[in-house]
Amino acid sequence: MSSPSPLYDDPVLAEAYARVTATNVYNAAYERPAVRALLGAVRGLDVLDAGCAAGEHAVWLQADGARLVALDASETMVRITRSRLGDGAHVLQADLAQPLPFADASFDVVLSSLTLHYLDDWGLPLREFARVLRPGGRLVITTHHPFLLPMLRMIDDYDYHTVALVEDAFDSFAAEPVPVRYYHRPLARIVADVLGAGFVIRGLHEPMPTAEADARNPAAAERLRKRPWFLIVDAERDCR
Ligand SMILES: C[S@@+](CC[C@H](N)C(=O)[O-])C[C@H]1O[C@@H](n2cnc3c(N)ncnc32)[C@H](O)[C@@H]1O
Repeated sequence: MSSPSPLYDDPVLAEAYARVTATNVYNAAYERPAVRALLGAVRGLDVLDAGCAAGEHAVWLQADGARLVALDASETMVRITRSRLGDGAHVLQADLAQPLPFADASFDVVLSSLTLHYLDDWGLPLREFARVLRPGGRLVITTHHPFLLPMLRMIDDYDYHTVALVEDAFDSFAAEPVPVRYYHRPLARIVADVLGAGFVIRGLHEPMPTAEADARNPAAAERLRKRPWFLIVDAERDCR
């Protein structure tokens, strides 16, 4: 299974990722609250968390009564999420670049949070999400906002309109920046990929930082208020 970064596989870095993202602004006070508000009540729903990492969404989904299946490509992340969810939780190692090991129409909701930007081809994973969702089932994707890179630092030499591999480094998980590779994807391509896989788009959302973000890191919160970091796609399996 290909890994986008040692962050997700190396046990020490993965533990650091789990610790930092439990309380940081970008995940804990920006992306996760927006996803939870959008998903609403999940009690009794069959939910797939596709790209669970250290299980922050998974823990909430399970606590709120979803019948949860969580997957991740990283063995280390699967181990961390399993240990947090406890015995009986359904957490498996699986690669979204491959067909999913689930029957057709077995989920009400698929959440794929901050994971698809690690894949260059969204065709197969999105068609698989459509296949495993029941008619009318909901897909919520969060991903790097497509304007993020041009706005931040690559404006001069960056071709916005192509899907392109970005070699980056995250600096909040270890003493030295940790290399990470992901794909930039233009907005029109994100929309076309989702529609092309058999979904109707209910909404595109650009979240705002919460009050908690202001309390934790006012400078980061102020940046996020002016520049979207993540994009949320809310879609429904088309049953026409
Ligand atoms: C930024 S983390 C996800 C964050 C997580 N959803 C959360 O809320 O904490 C990205 C995750 O995607 C996983 N990943 C990357 N490529 C993948 C693939 N092809 N199939 C499944 N998981 C993948 C990584 O192992 C990593 O755990």
